[in-house]
Amino acid sequence: MLQERATFEAANAGEELAVNVQGLHKKFGKATALESLDLAVRKGEFLVLLGPSGCGKTTTMRSIAGLEVPTSGTIEVGGQVVFDSSKGIDRAPADRNIGMVFQSYAIWPHRTVRENVSFPLKMQKVPRKEAAQRVDEVLALVGLEAQGSRSASMLSGGQMQRVALARSIVMSPAVLLLDEPLSNLDAKLREKLRVELKQTQQRLGTTSIYVTHDQAEALALADRVVLMRNGVIEQVAAPLELYRNPKTLFAAEFLGTNNLLKGRAENGTVLLDDFSLPTAYAGPAGDVSMCLRAEDFTENPPEAWAGGRVTGRIEVSSLLGSQIQYSVRVGGTLLEVLVPFVERLAAPGDTITLGVKAQDVRCFPTVVES
Ligand SMILES: Nc1ncnc2c1ncn2[C@@H]1O[C@H](COP(=O)(O)OP(=O)(O)O)[C@@H](O)[C@H]1O
Ligand SMILES: [Mg+2]
Repeated sequence: MLQERATFEAANAGEELAVNVQGLHKKFGKATALESLDLAVRKGEFLVLLGPSGCGKTTTMRSIAGLEVPTSGTIEVGGQVVFDSSKGIDRAPADRNIGMVFQSYAIWPHRTVRENVSFPLKMQKVPRKEAAQRVDEVLALVGLEAQGSRSASMLSGGQMQRVALARSIVMSPAVLLLDEPLSNLDAKLREKLRVELKQTQQRLGTTSIYVTHDQAEALALADRVVLMRNGVIEQVAAPLELYRNPKTLFAAEFLGTNNLLKGRAENGTVLLDDFSLPTAYAGPAGDVSMCLRAEDFTENPPEAWAGGRVTGRIEVSSLLGSQIQYSVRVGGTLLEVLVPFVERLAAPGDTITLGVKAQDVRCFPTVVES
C-alpha cells in the first residue's frame, strides 16, 4: 500500500486528479489564513485535513467550494479550472460539481426527509420519476429508507446529519466536501456515524475531502492525512505513516498522547534530567525535544528487551476499560503511561518498570527562537 502511494506521488504530474489546488493564498485583511497551499487529491480518495482550530481548514474547503474568494492561486475540480486568480476565473458554487456537508446540518426542519434530500434534484430540474428513484437510493444508502415521509424536525441529530449526507450525494458530485460533519454529535454516535460514513464512501467511491481537528477521526477515515498548521501544510502521509513517522515536533505532538521532555541527544542516546533512553534519532548531537507516546510503553519488559527501560513509582492508577492509565514518577518527571489491561491493576505507591523501543523515542532538534 505504502509503495503504491509512493509510486502515485512520483507519477502525480501525469495523473488526472479529482481536485488540484495550487499556490492557494487567502488573506483576511492583513491576516494570512492560507499560505501557498498545494493539494492534489486523487480520484476516489478520502483525504482528511487535520489541524488545530484556526489553522485554515475551513478556509481551504470554502475556497474549493467557491464560498470564499482566495487572494491568489488556482483550483481545478474534475480537470476543470474553477478558480484562477490570474485569469479572473471564479465559477459559482453550483457550477463546481461539488457536494457539501457542514457541521450545522442546514436542513429545513419543517420539510420532510424526502423534500430535503430531493431539493438539489429539483433545482437542477431532474425529471420527477428519476428524482424519486435517486432519492430512494440515497435514503437506503444512509439507512433512512423508512423515514422519508417524516418531518425533519422529528429526527435525532445523527439522523439529521444522515439527511445532510444524503442530500449532498444525491447529485452524484465529483467531489464531496465534509467540514467537521460529526462534531455536533455525542462521542458514541460520532464513532458509529464515522464507520457508516466510511462504508458509504467506499461503496460510492466518491472523492472526499474531510475536515476535522480530531486525530482519531482523521486516522480512522483517511487514505491520506494532510496535517495543517498556521495556514501551511506540515505533513502529508497515510495515517499509519503519519502516526509512526511524524516529520516534525508539531506532527509528533499532535498525534497520540504525548510526554514531551527536553534533553540532549548524542550517539543514539537521549539524556534527560531523570533517566536516559536509547533513541533511533540520527540528527546532530545537541539539545532536543523528545516525544514519548503514552501508548508506546511496555509494562515489565522481558529480560531480553532490546530497548530502553525506566523505573518509577505509580502516583495515579486509572482503569479506562481495555487500557490502564498510570502517572509514573521518575525523580522530578511525571510520565503519562497507557498500557493494555491484562489482569492486574497496579496501585499507587507500586514500583513499575517500563520498556520503550528506540524507534519510539522521537527526538527533534530544539529550535532556537531568534
Ligand atoms: N471571515 C473571516 N474573517 C476574518 N478572519 C477569518 C475569517 N474566516 C477565517 N478567518 C481566520 O482565518 C484563520 C483560519 O480560519 P479557519 O479556516 O476557519 O480555520 P479552521 O477551520 O482550521 O479552524 C483563522 O485565523 C480565522 O480567524
Ligand atoms: Mg473550521
